[in-house]
Amino acid sequence: MKNRVEVLHGVNLDWLGRRDPEHYGTISLPELEVKIGRFAHDLGLEARFFQSNHEGEFVEYLHRLPEIADAAVINAGAWSHYSYAIRDALEIAAVPAVEVHLSDVHAREEWRRRSVFEGLVSGVVAGKGPDGYREALEMLKAELE
Ligand code: DQA
Repeated sequence: MKNRVEVLHGVNLDWLGRRDPEHYGTISLPELEVKIGRFAHDLGLEARFFQSNHEGEFVEYLHRLPEIADAAVINAGAWSHYSYAIRDALEIAAVPAVEVHLSDVHAREEWRRRSVFEGLVSGVVAGKGPDGYREALEMLKAELE
């Protein structure tokens, strides 16, 4: 069975725990990754993690994604709202993907309401904090079966 899920975090997400707790809570990225790893394990999935603040590095990682993963969870941070380069790279990767945002991007500034991944990802989970990743993994599990 295909069960390898890459969990991708983009720009500024390494600062979780030190960013606005009103939107992002107090959990750090390493703590979040442990939580996601447990969610994945409970679902019979194998999670791996990657974070970068460098757009080119993120793009090149996406190019290699089909070799190492069957599916992806992507929280690209602010890139989600404007990086067509990352959208194109995710399209090249051509693995099933679900987009996650910790905060409710639809209830914040206007510019956060748009995502470049629209039409490419099979689902979007926003505003549910860390539990949103469990939902995303459940969606991908169903898609991989
Ligand atoms: C975010 C939402 C984005 O708008 C923001 O730029 C982030 C984090 C979230 O997880 O809620 O960096 O992706």
